[in-house]
Amino acid sequence: MLAGFLPHQPHVRKITVTVPTTSTTTRILTPTTQHIGEATWALASGELVAFPTETVYGVGADARNGVAVARVFEAKGRPSFNPLIAHVSSFNEAKKAGTFDARAEKLAEAFWPGPLTLIVPCVGEDCPVHELARAGLSTVGLRVPSHPVAQKLLWEFGAPVVAPSANRSGRVSPTSAEHVADDLSGRIEIILDDGRTEVGVESTVIACLPNEPARLLRPGGIPRAEIERVLGEKLLDAAGDLIQSPGMLAQHYAPDAPIRLNATEVANGEAWLGFGAAAPLGGRGVAHLNLSPTGDLAEAAANLFAYLRELDALKPTGIAVASIPGDGLGEAINDRLRRAAAR
Ligand code: TXA
Ligand code: MG
Repeated sequence: MLAGFLPHQPHVRKITVTVPTTSTTTRILTPTTQHIGEATWALASGELVAFPTETVYGVGADARNGVAVARVFEAKGRPSFNPLIAHVSSFNEAKKAGTFDARAEKLAEAFWPGPLTLIVPCVGEDCPVHELARAGLSTVGLRVPSHPVAQKLLWEFGAPVVAPSANRSGRVSPTSAEHVADDLSGRIEIILDDGRTEVGVESTVIACLPNEPARLLRPGGIPRAEIERVLGEKLLDAAGDLIQSPGMLAQHYAPDAPIRLNATEVANGEAWLGFGAAAPLGGRGVAHLNLSPTGDLAEAAANLFAYLRELDALKPTGIAVASIPGDGLGEAINDRLRRAAAR
């Protein structure tokens, strides 16, 4: 199966890049034209810049620069076999890095700019995305974000920027500049602060690879049904335990407090994370937050990571989470909650 998935890549090469470990001063900047210019220079010099996208904040590096890419892994403390998404300003730029078949082209036309990542074969030797960022794979993950700050930065930089979510590996993704600073202060040079992100969960990741049905590798900001409608076919799920999307490791979005799913009651030391109108039964809980009192899944997605962080910071004995419907954006929300609960 793996051979079928990666036709020209029977094994993954081990790549090593040595990076000096130094602590750096992190500047938090408003996204003025001048500051975006400074951020562009920082990227060009191999520095790390966190920036808002419509999904979550990403920690960006010049995708062509292996040492800069290595610094991203180092800053996040991320297992280095995990490939990163390369962000570009337009579909045209994406075509310089990846080969788009008819399906991938349809999806790019329909959803870019927006919260969709496409995994496609990379163009080959000339691929501007460093092989370390691709974890040695012959495929590349590409996305054109719609957030105006991300757009401006990418246009000005003029080359792909790899940007995983700007959190320490295994922690909840950041939906504000403060979250980024909590996790990465002293490890990256600049944070462009443009307030809360809109979507709140990461992009949907779809693989369109030769001789393979299109697969949903990670549910995210665009619901499965919308993608299937454009494709005109059903999406398959990720095949078995392939490493093609190691970001899907079971325990990936973990707060410190244990998470209890589909809860209807809250115990005394626990925090309650609700959804919809129903109030929890039982004890009083140390704190109550509601992802969306009206039961709106888009609002719940936007609040998810911020509320998990907020409740976790109170050091409760656990976080009891109400059940959340699995349709539409609910698939991505439930996926992140299951991962947060795994330990
Ligand atoms: O919304 C998002 O996608 C955010 C913002 C910052 O753009 N980024 C993000 O990146 O979530 P990251 O690195 O945390 O997640 C990237 C996902 C992982 O599941 C990774 O394994 C998968 O994309 N991925 C990237 N390149 C891949 C490739 N060549 N093959 C398979 N999976 C790939
Ligand atoms: Mg992440």
